[in-house]
Amino acid sequence: MSGDAGSADPRRRRVLTLVGLGTGGLAALAVGVPVGAAVLQPAWLRRGAAWRDVGVPGDFTPGVARLVIFDRPGTTPHAQLTTGDLRRDTAWVTREDGGWLALQNNCLHLGCPVRYQPGSRLYLCPCHGGVYDARGVNLAGPPRAPLVRLGVREQAGRVQVRAQALPLPDLLGRPR
Ligand code: FES
Repeated sequence: MSGDAGSADPRRRRVLTLVGLGTGGLAALAVGVPVGAAVLQPAWLRRGAAWRDVGVPGDFTPGVARLVIFDRPGTTPHAQLTTGDLRRDTAWVTREDGGWLALQNNCLHLGCPVRYQPGSRLYLCPCHGGVYDARGVNLAGPPRAPLVRLGVREQAGRVQVRAQALPLPDLLGRPR
């Protein structure tokens, strides 16, 4: 009897040690992931940011968003999971009131590409029903932030978009 109790103790201690290590590891991850993302994000966003040609002004009908494709300056695990193409990025570019608007084509919930509806001028996310207005402001559904605006300009007769890496979402899927 006493031999059984003696052999059970080391086993119990081992189990408790493993449980303790596992719990400590999870706690370290819970703290480390958001802190790491916050520290790395600014450098990540700057990585390879550059102006990319996306057409000439005549390609864009005033008031109607047009999808443009350009080289991706950097990528994140988030982007890899949702776009499937690591080398290309897309944005919706609108010419309006003598200016330009460029919106990154990734829903700010979980990153799905959004679809533009010319009639209503809304952007709809097919994944979970997110809705954004013509300026990219989130109106309905899960997204808690507007579509990311990119720099856009006319330069030497070309329309150019300032490409950047996607912002990292926090643990609740909100952009930082
Ligand atoms: S990814 Fe767009 S609503 Fe969820």
